[in-house]
Amino acid sequence: MTAGFVIAVDGPAASGKGTIAQRLGRELGLPVLDTGLLYRAVGVLTERAGVGLDDEGATAAVAARLDPAELEDPALRTRGAGELASRVAVHPAVRAALLDFQRAFAARPGGAVLDGRDIGTVICPDAPAKLYVTATPEVRAERRWKQLSGQGEAVAYDDVLADIRRRDARDGGRDAAPMTQAPDATLLDTTEMTIEQAADAARRIVEAARARWERSRG
Ligand code: C5P
Repeated sequence: MTAGFVIAVDGPAASGKGTIAQRLGRELGLPVLDTGLLYRAVGVLTERAGVGLDDEGATAAVAARLDPAELEDPALRTRGAGELASRVAVHPAVRAALLDFQRAFAARPGGAVLDGRDIGTVICPDAPAKLYVTATPEVRAERRWKQLSGQGEAVAYDDVLADIRRRDARDGGRDAAPMTQAPDATLLDTTEMTIEQAADAARRIVEAARARWERSRG
C-alpha cells in the first residue's frame, strides 16, 4: 500500500502549531492527531492513579493502557496537564508505548496531519511535508495566557512565561526524542504573524511539499 501524504507539524508550546495542524487537516480533508494530548493523558492519569511521575515503569504502563477515548477529556487542556505531560514525556518507555498508535495514525491510506515535538524527527522521519513552528517565548506566553484566561483559568502572565521557559528547557534538553527542528523541516516563525498569516504561510509550504511529493511519485 502506498503511504499517504503525511504532514508533520512540530514546535514548542503555543507556537501556533496546533491551530495550523487543525486548519491544514480541514483544508486538505486529512485527519489530525494532536500528539501532545497523548502525553497530557498519561500525565493526568498517572497523577490520578497516585503514581510518581518519575517512575518510568509505572508511567509507561499507564501509557500502554491508554484508551484514545480519554483524549477528549477537557482536563487535558489545562495548564497543569501540560506540565505533567512534559514530565512523563522524558521517559523513553513512555514514548515507546505511544509510538505504534502514532505511527498507525500516520499510516492511514489517505494521509494525516500530526502535531507534536518529535513527529518529523522520530515518529514520521519520512513525512513528505514537515514544518517547525516557533515564536518567541514572550509571544507564546501571551497567547497561552489569553487562551487560559478565556477558558476561565485565572493565571498571571509571568507564571505562564515561566511555565513556557521551563517546558522548552525540559522538552529540548531531554535525551529521548528532544524537541528539535528536523533537518528537512521548514521553519515557520510566527512571532510577528496573526494566526491567519501563519496558517496561510503553512498552507504555501505544504502545497510546495505536496507538489514535490507528487512529482517524486511520478
Ligand atoms: O503540545 P502540548 O503542549 O500539548 O504537549 C504537552 C507536552 O507533551 C510537551 O511539553 C512535551 O513534553 C510532550 N510532547 C512530547 N512529544 C510530542 C508531543 C508532546 O514530548 N510529540
